[in-house]
Amino acid sequence: MKSYPVVLILVLSTALWRCTTSQPELSVTSEEFGALPDAVVNLYTLTNANGMQVKISNYGGIITHLYAPDANGQLGDVVLGYDHLDGYLQASPYFGAIVGRYGNRIAGAAFTLNDETYALVQNNGPNHLHGGTKGFDKVVWAATPSTAEDRALLTLSYSSPDGEEGYPGTLDVTVTYALTNENELKIDYVATTDKPTVCNLTNHTYFNLKDGGASPILDHLVQIEAERYTPVDAGLIPTGELAPVEGTPFDFRQPTAIGARIDADHAQLRHGGGYDHNFVLNGAAGELRLVCTVEEETTGRVLQVYTTEPGVQFYTGNFLDGSITGKNGAVYHKRHGFCLETQHFPDSPNRPEFPPVVLQPGETYKTTTVYKFSVK
Ligand code: GLA
Repeated sequence: MKSYPVVLILVLSTALWRCTTSQPELSVTSEEFGALPDAVVNLYTLTNANGMQVKISNYGGIITHLYAPDANGQLGDVVLGYDHLDGYLQASPYFGAIVGRYGNRIAGAAFTLNDETYALVQNNGPNHLHGGTKGFDKVVWAATPSTAEDRALLTLSYSSPDGEEGYPGTLDVTVTYALTNENELKIDYVATTDKPTVCNLTNHTYFNLKDGGASPILDHLVQIEAERYTPVDAGLIPTGELAPVEGTPFDFRQPTAIGARIDADHAQLRHGGGYDHNFVLNGAAGELRLVCTVEEETTGRVLQVYTTEPGVQFYTGNFLDGSITGKNGAVYHKRHGFCLETQHFPDSPNRPEFPPVVLQPGETYKTTTVYKFSVK
């Protein structure tokens, strides 16, 4: 009898403790991000059970914010971008965006398929870059948020009309972002076409694991599982060679600071103004495998990249020039962010010797890339 009050107090205090120390809840919420003349654009916040968050807009499928824990459990934004849609509309070097229909460059902005030559939009000197003037980074995607037991999801769909930016065939694309309770951001790309076409989808997030872009990324340690890379000409078009990384500043087979050799006297680094190169990833394309590891020692943050793709474009933000002020007033100077754009090799439509990028009607294009966050 006497124990009733004690039991009651215990039950109440447990309930109170539960409330005050409540676990973050796995969720997806949405708010308005801004308006275009013909559409309202949303920003979706995916939260996992550890409190990690990713914010994604259905404009360009852009990852605007990504809060990852440091070694003390403090969440910090580790990607470059803008607070408002306006910034993305005014000037964005593909911050956080889905890139397509073809990621990276196609030489001469043309390719031939089944004896027919297709002229693409020229938006990078004489060449075609990242899908053209209005690529997948600048279109509004239909968005469906959802949750599953261990992940928060955002499914984005876009139907690219036949002839858009010069490409043949209607391409129906679905990109699914999933933030899992393992602190992984998993991206699944799926596409189908009604005519033979080329397809190479990626994401162009700029990371800075230290502070999201306020300082240089030169101290980050990078490991890339690649024995070879694809050297380029002065227009950043692959020469066709698969050159060994051994004995060059492109050897990232052991963890190496980005800045250790970035200004070395090497023709390829001069062409890129630093690293802006496709690495030929080890292992079998089509299988999800660990391809890159990046560590930032002051915060202890670690990023691991897994992909089914045969290549990755390692780009060190060489074209950032301080003209963009992004989130929280951070000025994005040269090399304040790095990208790991998983992909098929640049200019593959003109390089029969590279892994193929042609998609036929009846086939399904499917690739997966995972950005996994942890601490050391
Ligand atoms: C890619 C390209 C770079 C540059 C950036 C965007 O990484 O390879 O040359 O176009 O995108 O600025």
